[in-house]
Amino acid sequence: MPKKADPLTIDLFDDFTEINPRRIILAEDAVILRGYATDIAVDLIKSLEAIITQAPLRQMQTPNGYTMSVRTTSCGTLGWVSDAHGYRYERIDPNTGQSWPPMPQTFLELANQAAKEAGFNYFIPDSCLINSYEASAKLSLHQDKNERDLSAPIVSVSLGLPAIFLFGGNVRSERPQRHRLEHGDVAVWGGASRMAFHGIEPLIDGVHSLTGKQRINLTFRKVM
Ligand code: SIN
Ligand code: FE2
Repeated sequence: MPKKADPLTIDLFDDFTEINPRRIILAEDAVILRGYATDIAVDLIKSLEAIITQAPLRQMQTPNGYTMSVRTTSCGTLGWVSDAHGYRYERIDPNTGQSWPPMPQTFLELANQAAKEAGFNYFIPDSCLINSYEASAKLSLHQDKNERDLSAPIVSVSLGLPAIFLFGGNVRSERPQRHRLEHGDVAVWGGASRMAFHGIEPLIDGVHSLTGKQRINLTFRKVM
């Protein structure tokens, strides 16, 4: 995709120029940036600890009454929630009655830069969903479709234990590709692939030096 000049971010985001650009093209407007977040992972995890203290990870209920195997929380203006009433975004964390913790600047910059690297300029997320997977936790194939602004991409950062990422087409019946996502990998999909079905296979047990027995995923979205 052609790169446009991006005056908004040129001066603000100089920190990521050293990043290794290894990329796997998944589909039109969909890419994995291998190791894109590795150098700042320790910082990200430190920020995460503070977020999780304020807005603890919890297993949400699906509208069908199942308990999700992943534990979830959010930071940013809007947090993703699921319960008997459906999937949606809320400004207040239903578990604490407080606003979600603000999105750290490092998160915002990483998401903005990764989106730009994938061809999506000016991505300013207002929500970061934090998913924690332990052994056998998974996420079934789904589309991200609760966001009002579908012109913005999804930026998804993997930390800790590796997992198999499923990336399908815009219809569920299309057989998904399988890619191993490692610590520091960032997947970005939008545009023609914005409605791609995706998911995570059951996590294989293990221990990672920075996250212990978990894989953590940060999913950045522009909801409004
Ligand atoms: C998601 O689809 O919300 C998360 C995907 C992942 O954990 O990589
Ligand atoms: Fe998703």
